[in-house]
Amino acid sequence: MKRNVVSLLLGTTASTLCLFSLPTLGAVEDVNFDVSTAAPGYSIEGIPHKTKTGLEFPLKLKKSQDNEGVNLYGKTIKDLLVNIDFETSDRIRVKIADKDQKQVPVPDSPLGLERPKLRKSAKKPNYEFKYTDDPFGFQVIRKNDKAIIFDTTNYPLVFEDQYLEITTAVPDNANIYGFGETTLPNFRRDNIKNVTTIFARDAGCPFYENVYGHHPFYMEIRDGKAHGALLLNAHGMDVLTVEGRITWKIIGGILEFYIFVPDDNKPNSVVHSYTDLVGKPMMISHWMLGWHQCRWGYRDIDHVESVIQGYKDHNIPLEVGWVDIDYMDTFQDFTFDPKSFPEDRMVKLGQELHANRQRFVVMVNAGKHYKTGYEAYERGHELDVFMKNPDGEEYVGQVWPGYTVYPDWFHPNASKYWNYHVGAWMERLSLDGVWIDMDEPAAFCLGSCGTGKKDVSPPSLEPWTLPQEVQDEMFAEEEAAIKKLETDYVQDSRQLLYPNYAINNGHGNLSTKTGSMIAYHYGDIPHYDLHSLYGHSECKLTRDALIEHNKTERPFILTRSSFSGSGRYAGHWTGDNASKWEYLKSSITEIFNVQMFGISYSGSDVCGFNDNTTEILCTRWQELGAFYPFARNHNAKQPISQEPFRWETTAEATRIALGIRYTLLPYYYTLFEESNRLGTGVWRPLIFEYPEIDDFLDNDDQVLVGTDVLLSPVVYENETSVDAEFPPGVWYSWYDLKPVDSSTDSVRTITLDAPLTHIPVHVRGGAILPLKSPTLLVDETYESPYSLLIALDERGEAQGRLYIDDGHSLEQSEISDITFTFKKGVLEVDGCFGYTKAEKLDTIKIVGVNHHLGDVTKASIAHFKETVDLTKNEDNVIVLENAGIDLTSSFVVHFE
Ligand code: NOJ
Repeated sequence: MKRNVVSLLLGTTASTLCLFSLPTLGAVEDVNFDVSTAAPGYSIEGIPHKTKTGLEFPLKLKKSQDNEGVNLYGKTIKDLLVNIDFETSDRIRVKIADKDQKQVPVPDSPLGLERPKLRKSAKKPNYEFKYTDDPFGFQVIRKNDKAIIFDTTNYPLVFEDQYLEITTAVPDNANIYGFGETTLPNFRRDNIKNVTTIFARDAGCPFYENVYGHHPFYMEIRDGKAHGALLLNAHGMDVLTVEGRITWKIIGGILEFYIFVPDDNKPNSVVHSYTDLVGKPMMISHWMLGWHQCRWGYRDIDHVESVIQGYKDHNIPLEVGWVDIDYMDTFQDFTFDPKSFPEDRMVKLGQELHANRQRFVVMVNAGKHYKTGYEAYERGHELDVFMKNPDGEEYVGQVWPGYTVYPDWFHPNASKYWNYHVGAWMERLSLDGVWIDMDEPAAFCLGSCGTGKKDVSPPSLEPWTLPQEVQDEMFAEEEAAIKKLETDYVQDSRQLLYPNYAINNGHGNLSTKTGSMIAYHYGDIPHYDLHSLYGHSECKLTRDALIEHNKTERPFILTRSSFSGSGRYAGHWTGDNASKWEYLKSSITEIFNVQMFGISYSGSDVCGFNDNTTEILCTRWQELGAFYPFARNHNAKQPISQEPFRWETTAEATRIALGIRYTLLPYYYTLFEESNRLGTGVWRPLIFEYPEIDDFLDNDDQVLVGTDVLLSPVVYENETSVDAEFPPGVWYSWYDLKPVDSSTDSVRTITLDAPLTHIPVHVRGGAILPLKSPTLLVDETYESPYSLLIALDERGEAQGRLYIDDGHSLEQSEISDITFTFKKGVLEVDGCFGYTKAEKLDTIKIVGVNHHLGDVTKASIAHFKETVDLTKNEDNVIVLENAGIDLTSSFVVHFE
């Protein structure tokens, strides 16, 4: 086992001591990149038979001389069953499982993944499935170009109880995206010799290592065409991306692949198809799009209030005030620190925020204090909902309050427990949402270190601050205790604590800093088999609890740990980064990843969490962070304060950038609706929109918000210009509405000025953006009339969309879905106009090159039969003001 001790210093617990590694291709020295060529493989037994949805056939282990290649790291399973399901035209499932069904798959439930109930096989699949019988291997072939997109035929198949290995061939320089969660500088995978370890883990800083979430999904873009695959498996795994192949090495479960083959070969369609399976990202409320402010280490409630006031004094938008664990009484969930955050002041804070039309969110942790009389413990104990040791006693780890127990979300009483606590808490503080932290789950000791120590304080609440020898000694004792528990009670024939195949887990030992692998969930399932689902299942139950508490509002949950499909329930922030330029840059990659995992409401801690930020870094970060789908400044305890008003340049840059965000609110909201319906990301890499343009394969410095707004931020120190790549077509600067250049038919790199308070933002010619007039608050901004920015393409045309609902209700009885089309001087506004509250469209601005807009002087609005003079007509821009159009039915505007 490697790095057990060192890694105790990494992550949340050591957030202010963060020993982060700057991006170098990570700790791969211990990794075995080879495939197990000696493994005998399997052959098909008998004749495959047809099922309602595909094919089924058994596999038998082939004989090997002297059992060579058998029991490599576990016990070889001889009899397997393969099910091929042609699920939909763009999705095939290949499931290879043990015939006896002893292996633990991802549960078929919302706490795992609800498999679609299929009645028949897809009629016209976009793929073909081929297999070889001896040895068994398979290929998935995309029909429209005959490309073999998944191919295991030349590689060994290993299926042991604690080691599964399978490989697909890919082109030598394959363009692979996804696989996480891991902190990476670059979006496209390095495929020389790269390992992505997937296993939920509380770790703040390390590049290239596994962090909070578990997402075994990837996309490949080959010759401009995209496909994707999910290995639905919640066990720890190493994914090796090596020249010519991707190899999965997994420590349990089954092989359940879903391969996504959309007929248009588009990257966004792959994400669409993926989220058809795992669930669409949750729909957000308007307010969630506003700016959020948080910090760990607010001294007291006055401190929080002074920060909120600081925003006001500096005219910077603030929508949501957050309080971290500081408010709790000795860090116990659902309590108040009587001195610094007394209940009445916290309640008042919520009321004040609401009176100012702002919102209030506080933290809830996974672990619950193991203490007599503490309600969240006592109730859970009564309902028997906490995870257990193998001897049946409660499993007791350690988190912020001291020794802690962990709710087992798989327990049938868990929703009763959680509905009560979350509901009561929301009510008591009139909260707008909850922030779920430490849900990997995190732990500061190894194993059940608090057994028999109810009401006792651990030797240190922050064990990583103890002298190293003391930590080593504690660690040795804890390890001995956990091993003894295993020997005395565990009935499993597997090596749950120390599996023979050691994934490249950043903490080494699987149980370090998390729930022990021999803690038990309901149904006697060891944590080993469900570990990475802990956060996901907590999200699901928390969403249920929020809905139970308030059946009308869209729930707000921000989670640190996630699994495939968590985006249905929660948003995600990328955890404990550091105030370093490398993390500003990597936030783009991380958000791109999370977006393609189907969690559209996501962002990174703006200005960096650990370490001291600087004025310049924070300024640049605020500029970019203002456009994150979820936009929040958050900071750790010890670093200097970093609210945007601390420096005048930062404040200025923030006002400008948030001014743009708030102007774009209807555009963002429309994108979130699309995301909720289709699964597509709100932030997109250029390659997702322009897959045929190779220049964009490795562009992770620029961001497309949807399809129409291009951000080219400064993410490197000491730079005041950006070499930005522009796709073919016209691109207008947001600020002066001038086109970036006169070229339109090719990709070009243009050096853009980016002085400190300026983030280059461009609008795609061909887009129509719905806008609002920004104020300091989201609701107030939404009360302003709509305006349209029509950015003409080289043919003088443009299209856009606007989605309107009431902006907060879970169920919507009235919606408008409006399309805008501009052609030959005529704007046609059409669609569905179900939202009956009168929404006005007041201003229409048209920007166009080479279309002599200066000749246009009047607009007649067919709907109103009026002719209106334009307020501005220059060569490039014309403006129609005070149009006063009701957005309640179709209309046409002629510009002449
Ligand atoms: C870890 C979280 O990642 C961080 O955001 C939070 O501030 C600390 N825990 C303290 O609650």
